[in-house]
Amino acid sequence: MENWSEKKSVNNNLFLQKLGIEVPVICGAMYPCSNPELIAAVSESGGIGMVQPLSLVYAYSIPFEEGLNQIKSLTTKPVGLNVIVEKNIKAYEDRMKNWVDIALTKGVRFFVTALGDPSWVIEKVKPFGGIVYHDVTERKWAERAVRLGVDGLICVNNRAGGHAGNQSAEDLFKQLSDFGLPLICAGGVSTSDHFIDSLKMGYSGVQMGTRFIATTECKAHPDYKEAILRASEKDIVLTKRVTGVPLSVIRTPYVDSVGLEIGPIAQFLFRFRRTRHWLRFLYNLRSVRAMKKTNLKGLSTKDYYQAGKGVEGINEVLGANTILKIFRTAYEKFLAGE
Ligand SMILES: Cc1cc2nc3c(=O)[nH]c(=O)nc-3n(C[C@H](O)[C@H](O)[C@H](O)COP(=O)(O)O)c2cc1C
Repeated sequence: MENWSEKKSVNNNLFLQKLGIEVPVICGAMYPCSNPELIAAVSESGGIGMVQPLSLVYAYSIPFEEGLNQIKSLTTKPVGLNVIVEKNIKAYEDRMKNWVDIALTKGVRFFVTALGDPSWVIEKVKPFGGIVYHDVTERKWAERAVRLGVDGLICVNNRAGGHAGNQSAEDLFKQLSDFGLPLICAGGVSTSDHFIDSLKMGYSGVQMGTRFIATTECKAHPDYKEAILRASEKDIVLTKRVTGVPLSVIRTPYVDSVGLEIGPIAQFLFRFRRTRHWLRFLYNLRSVRAMKKTNLKGLSTKDYYQAGKGVEGINEVLGANTILKIFRTAYEKFLAGE
């Protein structure tokens, strides 16, 4: 037990010190909910906001570099970049590489990779002193990422919004703790009690998505925020219909009417590596458009509101700075052993 707490505090220091932040809270990248004001507000309040480049460029129509400049005009504190490393068409991969290059020139040093092989990101950012954390849902992917040289793991559990994992936060921690790297709990954290519980489990910090959608700074449509406030844990379902793999969304009459599964042809094509790759691309393209419409413009004919089970603890729209203030106080008490 003593070893654990020693390890925990070292990791905590490592995560906070390496990132240069004060509160171990990441505002996770969210397509299409990551807007410059939200990212900057979280960083400015002592946590770290993640830039989701597709969100910036496609959802908000802000050229990437301009978006980073906008964020930098709102905060001088560190922000991170989400890099989706999923194999894709070359033009997309080249654009992602270019975004990483631009981010490095703008001083971004924290990168969270997701959905694939993070090696090219590690190679690119390490000479600049960059730090790479990789999103994982199970040990198999964590082993590969650790072997490749990531600095930490974002442990996505079965309560997360977006693409959820299939294990509890506790089980995931137990599976991954022997790597000796900082582990960040992603999924179902929406209150300071959840946050402290995660730290007590041994996590070095938390990554939150759903909680930050219901903030004054987030540009998601009020209908979306309202749906989060109204929803309880049992309203969260996993649908494959948006991206082809389980996505955590709030149950709405639309979700009920179309069901949660993909059709038999898509199921068949998902079985083979090559067709799966193309199908994922098509699904992603379609979902990028659909999410932009429903999540930002509030259309109500095809309501897909991505959210995790943390909705249970979200009862009002708050300023991101208020959330960070509450979490900071809880963190200080935790450190003081209160
Ligand atoms: C609306 C929404 C969009 C998301 N988009 C992304 C994304 O583009 N890239 C990514 O790595 N994670 C994405 N996530 C996952 C979040 O970064 C974060 O890990 C997750 O929301 C944590 O779970 P929580 O929602 O229960 O707090 C998304 C989550 C949500 C709710």
